[in-house]
Amino acid sequence: MKTKITELFEIEHPIIQGGMHYVGFAELAAAVSNAGGLGIITGLTQRTPENLAKEIARCREMTDKPFGVNLTFLPTVNTPDYPGFVEAIIKGGVKVVETAGRNPEQVMPYLKAAGIKVIHKCTSVRHSLKAQQIGCDAVSVDGFECGGHPGEDDVPNMILLPLAADALEIPFVASGGMADGRSLAAALAMGADGINMGTRFIATQEAPVHANVKQAILNATERDTRLIMRALRNTERVLNNVAVEKIVAKEKALGDNIKFEDIIEEVAGVYPKVMIDGDVNAGAWSCGLVASLIHDIPTCDELVSRIVKDAEDIIRGRLLGLL
Ligand SMILES: Cc1cc2nc3c(=O)[nH]c(=O)nc-3n(C[C@H](O)[C@H](O)[C@H](O)COP(=O)(O)O)c2cc1C
Repeated sequence: MKTKITELFEIEHPIIQGGMHYVGFAELAAAVSNAGGLGIITGLTQRTPENLAKEIARCREMTDKPFGVNLTFLPTVNTPDYPGFVEAIIKGGVKVVETAGRNPEQVMPYLKAAGIKVIHKCTSVRHSLKAQQIGCDAVSVDGFECGGHPGEDDVPNMILLPLAADALEIPFVASGGMADGRSLAAALAMGADGINMGTRFIATQEAPVHANVKQAILNATERDTRLIMRALRNTERVLNNVAVEKIVAKEKALGDNIKFEDIIEEVAGVYPKVMIDGDVNAGAWSCGLVASLIHDIPTCDELVSRIVKDAEDIIRGRLLGLL
């Protein structure tokens, strides 16, 4: 299957693994890239540019295929050393950067000068157009279904993808709610040139997270995620658990007066406890509605091959057969 995305990133299949805090380590990125997709190391999880440089080197030992690094620009108390991270990416010979959060204008000149392809992940058409305008090579259009931060517009992919297709000149992938061959075929039908997946890639053999996290995703239904931090305009879709129920109760009680400090216990420093220690109730962690469509823990190679084969079967069989 050849698309503008496979050509742009020089990969075999139009499937990207989005950056994920405390999940997107070299093991997962390399496994996705070895499967013919585009694996992505999560930059900020590495905390320092030195650690990121080591993680890039580790990934290169595990794959000779292209892989990327995610740079997330979110409001944080201590601003990360973005120039240092960019330097580590350039020196590490990384060819693709996935940016997310605020628009990546500040780092574009350095990435472009180094010949790095930039795919910006955003949740609206207007932000996608801005990304196109500042020179991004592609966009990851993240619908309301997505795990993590869906933005504040609440537009699901059934609407967002065709709108993006009408507005954009650069290629884009569909992100949020993507799980299988049906997702890929549908995304292509709506004008995307591939898919980006987060939650689905956590439930794989190579994802270096505790087995409890994978099991929690397998157990989840389409009614088990919650949106938190709406009043803070930092909405996040997370898997429901006891900590999330506490957040929801506080949000109900405090309404628009809620402050970050009110929920800090349930959201700060949670990821290592969940992903490494396997304490899935330690706090709020991102998870998409798509968890309801995840029923197994395949290798990345099995998953990517299955998605591509099933999409091809749908296009050649079911869809052509209707004509
Ligand atoms: C556990 C988890 C952590 C995530 N961390 C990040 C992150 O640090 N930066 C980022 O840009 N996106 C992050 N995301 C979003 C994913 O890259 C991706 O856009 C999203 O999961 C797509 O929706 P899906 O889960 O329905 O596939 C995270 C998602 C999950 C599930």
